[in-house]
Amino acid sequence: MWPYPKIVAHRGAGKLAPENTLLAMQCGLEYGFHAVEFDVMLSKDGVPVLMHDPDFGRTVAGKGSVSNTLAKDLLQMDAGSWFDPRFSHVTVPDYESIFRFCQAHGIWMNVEIKPAPGFEKQTGEVVARTSQRLLAELKAEGQTVREPLFSSFAFDALMWAKQAAPELSLAYLLDEYECNWQASLEKLSAVSLNTNHKYLTADWAREIKSAGYGLFCYTVNDPVRAKELFSWGVDGFCTDRIDLIAADFA
Ligand code: G3P
Ligand code: MG
Repeated sequence: MWPYPKIVAHRGAGKLAPENTLLAMQCGLEYGFHAVEFDVMLSKDGVPVLMHDPDFGRTVAGKGSVSNTLAKDLLQMDAGSWFDPRFSHVTVPDYESIFRFCQAHGIWMNVEIKPAPGFEKQTGEVVARTSQRLLAELKAEGQTVREPLFSSFAFDALMWAKQAAPELSLAYLLDEYECNWQASLEKLSAVSLNTNHKYLTADWAREIKSAGYGLFCYTVNDPVRAKELFSWGVDGFCTDRIDLIAADFA
């Protein structure tokens, strides 16, 4: 059985707010979403932050890269203007503050470990250890916590995460079909395959479900397609269209 939410807001609030920011999480909440996916990468000094692209130029202006910038500088960067000039005060958030915000508001997290190329080991380990520490701290404070699902396209990052914190639940992300998908999940002791719905077929979905794995898709923005995927046994998906596909859609 899928123990996680079925409909998840992609990058915080999909297309309705600047991605991977606190504002996006707040926007998701306003739309009734208590489930988010977001991307985590390391700064030059090894601090996990929310960022999708390894290089600047799209969601933050200028030249440079996340892995070559100190956290103190990253956390001041404008991550909102690209979306709307009204949001120039919205900055790149650190993972810890978003993790705490989500747990405090009962928001379930699908944490996508997104290493910059060459940083798979460090990113997998740091995200896993940071999450393990935060979960322990919150539990010690008496807070009810929701166990996140950690996913990545980077197999090695997941292997390092598993080694650092074996109790965390992992999902392997695949874009297109790979014939050795099941062997990869077994090596990771992963609970779920998270895949691009565009390349999922009814047969492959059946195979995944028959093997006993969770099946989660990205990024589903069409309610008709969403219904088809559920009819194939898909357990859940993330969406950019939280305005079209309600949190209780399923
Ligand atoms: O985690 C699913 C989805 O977010 C993967 O693609 O590029 O949006 O991070 P991307
Ligand atoms: Mg992602």
